[in-house]
Amino acid sequence: MTDGPNGMTSPRRSARKAPNPRLQFPASRVEVSADGAMCWAGEGATSDVMGDGAGYDAATVGRGKDCGVLIRDESAAALRGLLGGAVTAPGAESGGLRGQVQAVYIDPPYNTGSVFADYADKVDHGLWLAMMRERLELLRESLAESGSLWLHIDDSEMAYAKVLLDEVFGRENCVSAIVIENNPKGRQLGKFFAGSHDHLLVYARDIRHVRIEPGSAQAVNPADFPKSDERGPFRLLPLRNTNKKFHPGTVPTLHYGLWADAESGRVSAEKFAGAREVFPVFGDGTDAVWRWSAARVRERSDELAARIVRGRGGERLDVYQIDRLHDERKKKLRSIWMAHEIGSSDSAKAELKKVLPGRQIFATPKPEPLLARVLEAATEPGDLVLDCFAGSGTTPVVAQRMGRRWVAVELSGASIDSYIVPRLEGELSDSDSFRILRSRG
Ligand SMILES: C[S@@+](CC[C@H](N)C(=O)[O-])C[C@H]1O[C@@H](n2cnc3c(N)ncnc32)[C@H](O)[C@@H]1O
Repeated sequence: MTDGPNGMTSPRRSARKAPNPRLQFPASRVEVSADGAMCWAGEGATSDVMGDGAGYDAATVGRGKDCGVLIRDESAAALRGLLGGAVTAPGAESGGLRGQVQAVYIDPPYNTGSVFADYADKVDHGLWLAMMRERLELLRESLAESGSLWLHIDDSEMAYAKVLLDEVFGRENCVSAIVIENNPKGRQLGKFFAGSHDHLLVYARDIRHVRIEPGSAQAVNPADFPKSDERGPFRLLPLRNTNKKFHPGTVPTLHYGLWADAESGRVSAEKFAGAREVFPVFGDGTDAVWRWSAARVRERSDELAARIVRGRGGERLDVYQIDRLHDERKKKLRSIWMAHEIGSSDSAKAELKKVLPGRQIFATPKPEPLLARVLEAATEPGDLVLDCFAGSGTTPVVAQRMGRRWVAVELSGASIDSYIVPRLEGELSDSDSFRILRSRG
């Protein structure tokens, strides 16, 4: 054991190298050691509530199959109960949550210093980190091998949360740090910049096995498909690989001749009457490579077209892929998610107002389209979703609507009664039910 930065005993630091002086944060009493691990006063603290989640009063809403569990408890206590098997996963006969969860979405208190009607958002920085580490470690245990964790956070703790996640999950398991536009106009009240975004830190339990489908049908822009024929809109993409990293020196097997006829547009891997042999070249005339192998061209030659193009060296024949717009078409999501795509803080409050008219509005709800995008990317119907800072219940509500099983934990009984339960009741069909467990503590 060694003394922590303010003289507190810190058992974890004894195994670490001496802190790198350039990475010390004395003002906030947090240090990052040379091996990248954070140390801070109070880092060994665990939550006051040391329950194992066993002592709950249970009730069921609905009569159909068990789709979700809503737990009124402190998050770490509930997670211990869930991991230990004291609480069964929805739809399961027995057994806990360990290794069962496909996606965790959490939106914990950001430690901004605000005091909301529903909860206070100010604790000592070191305690906030200790609180988060303990829960992130438990949440990691809940994840399936292909699962992922999505942590919503704002600027105040984002950098620390990122280092903490690197530590708990491993840097190699960071999938993305997505920017979320939550206030398009920008908050005008601050002294400096008008804040208009949060962050969504995405980590895989294991990057080699993670199942995240980062495509969205809504992200597809029909204007990107300007051509049209009897089969509908399409665009022509060069079959040549336009990335200069790829050339005959790096991928020699993809530099080969194709046979093409400008008049009919036909392309083939084999010579045919009227065809000319075409090799891939860059705009400056140097040798390039195709994106498809000859075997794939043989299988899918009807998706290729020959065209005459005008380049620096005059006219030449080139080969294009006919890329069609169809109903299942998806586009890779960018790492910046705009409010017009996923909603904003204002739209989330408006959503709540519509579902629960006349009620005082929860201060920090997240918009439903944001959760729909996360769950679409990270889960499939029937998968298990977990949120242990449920707030007004956006995660379980959207999970229920999308046919996912869910577990939600919230400390505030008032938020459970005023927002989560009524919202969930509105989503429940006759064939579904969910359990409510309230801690007796
Ligand atoms: C930012 S809000 C979550 C909002 C939520 N994403 C939504 O869309 O409504 C954070 C929530 O975490 C709850 N909370 C804070 N500390 C907690 C703890 N230790 N255990 C469980 N819930 C906690 C607060 O009561 C608050 O409702």
